[in-house]
Amino acid sequence: MIRLDKYLCEMSVGTRSEVKKYIRQGRITVDGKKVVKPEEKIDEQSQQVSMDNQLIGYEEFEYYMLYKPAGVVSATVDKKEKTVLDLIIDKKRKDLFPVGRLDKDTEGLLLITNDGEMAHRLLAPKKHVNKTYYAKVKGRVTEQEIQLFSIGFSIGNNEYAKPSVLRILKSGEISEIELILQEGKFHQVKRMFRAVGMEVIYLKRISMGSLVLDESLQKGEYRRLTKKEVEQLC
Ligand code: URA
Repeated sequence: MIRLDKYLCEMSVGTRSEVKKYIRQGRITVDGKKVVKPEEKIDEQSQQVSMDNQLIGYEEFEYYMLYKPAGVVSATVDKKEKTVLDLIIDKKRKDLFPVGRLDKDTEGLLLITNDGEMAHRLLAPKKHVNKTYYAKVKGRVTEQEIQLFSIGFSIGNNEYAKPSVLRILKSGEISEIELILQEGKFHQVKRMFRAVGMEVIYLKRISMGSLVLDESLQKGEYRRLTKKEVEQLC
């Protein structure tokens, strides 16, 4: 059960004072009956709330797949920088957050939700969720790095990269690789390559657990997850 004014706020119908005004004006109905008390409790799972005869559907959780472009920060608010949440323009919930962080210059898959439990499951090191990255690296990546990455190694600051799977897509002065990690330390991919004397010059996340970046999205675009994608992640 939830207060009617809170419900309307959560569904982004308006600010707390605006929705109270709408309720008092008699514009809100619950199961077809006018309700004029903002504090009235409703069952958000079973009751139907409308404003001006338009149904306002309740969603406890929202899930968005964003193709994060470079140049935006993985935060909910920032005084100076554009955030990934600024890109989700038709969001309803106000409690959305990005699941994990990508650096400002990193592109690719970012899940945005208000489902804290799911976020925890995806990020908890003990859950060993695979995250796949594509990177362009300055330097010749060889079998030697594949070996080293497969056993793990120190990446400085007293931190250690656990075993990971490195695949070489192209080896040359600029190499292209795919890397599967089960952890997400600060700047992890960049630090792993720095530790072997190479520099990541482009980084993109392709997948996280069962969720794969939808290549029909353009950079900066997003879409809601399908029911199936949510079920698979759960
Ligand atoms: N590793 C990095 O170095 N940066 C990211 O944004 C993600 C993983």
